[in-house]
Amino acid sequence: MRIVKKMASAATIAVFLLCCYFIVSSGSQADCNVYAATGSNFTVQLKHVLKDSDSLRWFKNKKVIFLRKSKLVIRGKNDDVDSNGKLKLTQLTKDKSGRYRPEVHRADGTSAVDLPSVRLCVLDPVQKPKVTVTCDKTKVTFTCDAGQSEKNFPIKWFMDNKNGPENETGKELKRPVKDVLNARFSCNVSNPVSSEISQPVQQDCIKSSFPDICGIDVCIPVRTGAGILLLVILIVIVCCIQRKANLIKDKVELPLRKHHHHHQKQLVGSVLEPDICADCDLEGDNRI
Ligand SMILES: *[C@@H]1O[C@H](CO)[C@@H](O)[C@H](O)[C@H]1NC(C)=O
Ligand SMILES: *[C@@H]1O[C@H](CO)[C@@H](O)[C@H](O)[C@H]1NC(C)=O
Repeated sequence: MRIVKKMASAATIAVFLLCCYFIVSSGSQADCNVYAATGSNFTVQLKHVLKDSDSLRWFKNKKVIFLRKSKLVIRGKNDDVDSNGKLKLTQLTKDKSGRYRPEVHRADGTSAVDLPSVRLCVLDPVQKPKVTVTCDKTKVTFTCDAGQSEKNFPIKWFMDNKNGPENETGKELKRPVKDVLNARFSCNVSNPVSSEISQPVQQDCIKSSFPDICGIDVCIPVRTGAGILLLVILIVIVCCIQRKANLIKDKVELPLRKHHHHHQKQLVGSVLEPDICADCDLEGDNRI
């Protein structure tokens, strides 16, 4: 019985904490249904056809910011609304964020019902982000620095201009260095009014001996091919040197046994030199 009670109270606390969490995490941002950029203009709609005899009020939050009774402007300026009574908000600043609500009263004392209001949030456009690289043993961390990160809007990562992992939307992206030797990373930060993408950067933990012009999918075959070519050239050179050395040896040591030379050379060739050395034969034979 006591255990059940304890569990019940624990559950209550958990639910309470969960509620707190949601209330806290849904800040002012979540209350907005309209977003506009700082410095831009925004017009709040009025879903009512005004008559000259109507009185029109515009509220910002609880405060009346515009009042016009039968064409006479009592609060605010004539210019604050357009010819249809829509509220014109110009040169927006953040302090113009809030709930805007119209009220229309008719001459007969009735009022218009269900006029929609808006909850406006004015936001600065995001700044162009910058990706920085930090190295840690085998890991590399790419950090998307978005400057004024007062609001945590999700970050999108790009790897070699392709969309990065969907589930990684944090400021930091960690990878084993060997997996991303030449990959270029950039990040896209956005808020409801704008988005900006960073310049791409590469890891600099391990310096690559090849220039960074090719991506990892191009470089590996290119490098492998270049390596094999280099090896072949090296073998040919070694063979030629060896063959020339043999010829010189033949000429110096066996000047009198010239008639045996051909026989001996064939023997040396078949035992010591791989097929690839056949390329040198022409030159060698001409010298004899
Ligand atoms: C906003 O409205 C003002 C006044 O009506 C106008 O001068 C300005 O050009 C508008 N700005 C934008 C970005 O539309
Ligand atoms: C960046 O992200 C925003 C929001 O998802 C999107 O609208 C925009 O097109 C993206 N920019 C690029 C260059 O992909």
